Formats: sequence, C-alpha cells, structure tokens
Amino acid sequence: MAQQTDVVRLEKTITIDTDARARLLPYDQWVESLGLPVHKGYYVEDVRKLEVAPWPEMGCDAAFIQLAGMEGVADARVTEIPPGGTTNPVRFALDEVVFVADGQGLATVWAEGVARKTFEFGPRSLFVIPRGAVRQFANARGDRPVRLVANTHLPVGMSLIPDPTYFFNNPYEDPGLLESAEDELYSVAKRSPGGRGASWFGNFFTDLAAWSGLVPHRQRGGGGHVVDIQFPHSEMGGHMSVFPPGTYKKAHRHGPGVVIIIPAGEGYSIMWPEGEEKVIVPWHESSMFVPPNRWFHQHFNVSVEPARYLALSPMKQVRGLGDQQSSRLLDQVEYPDEESWIREMFEEELGKRGLESLMPEGAYLDAHFKWEYDASEEQGAVLDATAGRGL
Ligand SMILES: [Fe+2]
Repeated sequence: MAQQTDVVRLEKTITIDTDARARLLPYDQWVESLGLPVHKGYYVEDVRKLEVAPWPEMGCDAAFIQLAGMEGVADARVTEIPPGGTTNPVRFALDEVVFVADGQGLATVWAEGVARKTFEFGPRSLFVIPRGAVRQFANARGDRPVRLVANTHLPVGMSLIPDPTYFFNNPYEDPGLLESAEDELYSVAKRSPGGRGASWFGNFFTDLAAWSGLVPHRQRGGGGHVVDIQFPHSEMGGHMSVFPPGTYKKAHRHGPGVVIIIPAGEGYSIMWPEGEEKVIVPWHESSMFVPPNRWFHQHFNVSVEPARYLALSPMKQVRGLGDQQSSRLLDQVEYPDEESWIREMFEEELGKRGLESLMPEGAYLDAHFKWEYDASEEQGAVLDATAGRGL
C-alpha cells in the first residue's frame, strides 16, 4: 500500500437522527452506518481473532467492540494493518488511547507546526494520540498483521455534537498541546507521585508486560500491586494491576466504562449485578471486558505467572457517580463474606491445571487480614523508571 501524505477526510455517511426518542445513540447510529462488524456481549476473549472488514477511508480493516459495560461512555475499535501495509493519515478530534494487541509497526503523529514524530511499537505497547493530531500507522513486518485496539470517549462526544464529520475532519489544534508537543509527544514515561502511590506519566509505554515499579494495593486483596497511568494534557488515564499466581482479588463495583484489557496472564473474572446471575469471563493476553454499571466483578489468576490487567478509565463525571466507593461495606465483598462457591470454583479451576490455591487461610477468617508484602515494600514504594522510554 502506497504511503499517503495528505490527510484523508472521512465523508459523512449518515445524518444523525437527533430526535430524543431515537432508537440509538448518535454514536451507535454512526457505527451502524459504517457497516463494519460490531462485536457485542460481556467480553471479547481475544481481540487478535475478532472478525474485521475493510474501512476504506481509514485504509485498513476494522471492527467495533461494544460491550455491555461501555454503556454509551466508552468506545473501542480494532484496527488491522496487513503485512507491509500503511493506514491512511487521519485526523481525529479526541484523545485516543491505543493498545497494541499484536504485531510490530510504526506510528507517525503530526500537527501543524510540530515536527512529525515516528515511534516503533510492538506487542503490548500502549500509547496516546493527542486530540487534533494526524496519525498514520504502518506494519513493520511482512509476515503478520498488526492489531491495534483504540479506546476513546467518542460516544459522549457524539451525543454533544451529533455530527461524525466534526470528529474526523476538524482542523482545530489545541495551542497548549502544540506548545509542549516537542517535549511531550512520545517522550519518556516518568514517575510521578499521587494516585495510589505510584503513577506513570507519559504517552508511550513500550510493553505493559515488562512494567515494574508498582506499589502494593492492599485494599483489594490478593497480594496485588498497582500503578496509576496518567497521560499528558488528557483526562484519559487508568491503572494497571498485577496480582500473583494462585490468588484472587476481592469483588468490588463501580460505574460503567472502565475498559479492561489483559496484557499478560491467564484467569477469569466473575461479574454480576447484586443478587442476580453471574457472568464468567475467561481471559488471557488480549482479552477485553467491561464490568457493567454497578456490577460486582472479581478477578482470579489460575496461571503460574503474575496476571496483569490494564483498566482504562471513563471521564471524571462518570467516575464521580460510580467509581468512588462510598462504602467498602456496600461496594466491596471481603473474603469472609463471599459466597462459598467462589472459593470452591477457584480451587477447582486451579486443580484442573495441577495447581493449588496460594490464598492464605487467614484471609477467609478476618476481613481486615493484612497481606504480606516484601519488607522493602512495607517501608514504601519500590519504583524504577525503566518502564517507558523516550524516542
Ligand atoms: Fe473494577
């Protein structure tokens, strides 16, 4: 595919029905009009295997993922770039977080008056394309496709401005973004204080499975660690949790739109609305799921390796309504209070794999059980700055 340098304008494919009684959200109407595969349900077991179809204006194959918990808050799209292929240069008006599910390639990002930045990505890379910037992706290999998963807040944007053209052909470039772009477009991911004790600040992270520098996440049990993720000039962000083999986290609940992608590990999650039927979500690398609004969810590691999950947050308005746990009693289930089959199923699943639970017995007896962490971690966070790199 020849590389194009002119920005491709997306033609309007639909006039949005803005009648308040319309069957679908403006975003859903637009997605339907594109005629691309739309994958629905509670989870996607492997985004690398989802059916995609050509999206000519983008110069690639693509599909949309609309999971139950996205609830008109979050958007997810899979892009496939064939071996040796290059996507069209396209401008998009909102910040876009991209996780690399498979393959190796080059991303080039530019805006008026800012030197083009090209960086190389590989499996499990995470990066952000700033709002208003033009982006173009190329597959660096000739033998396998690249699969990208993009997350934006486009459903909310299209409810405010029900015109797809606005988001794809909008020439506005944020002056503040441009002033600092030279320093911050694909620069070093830095450690910063705040959040739960450790944060990574940057817009390019080479491999989420190689990340270190997390801190104990005591509240959620399972001997887990966590790091917050902050992107420059963006309200988007999230966190990554890592928890050891043979353990599971406490069930908890919050608002919609938290998109979970698995960079490494094997396990399952249970999701349920209070007092109702449970949904079992099997996962491994490149699985995706989104806990629906106020559904409890609980993560289980049944492998011999630490499991990692990346959680991409919705905007603050939604977090304010749902993500803040007003009461641990209401929004988290302590181990001694959980239904007995939860533990039994976990032990059974481990048994199928010749493994045993490493959950300490004390955790089931005392809601205030203190998990043991390394002595150095008890004194404070152990952090290093090797996770991200500059270009
Ligand atoms: Fe959660």
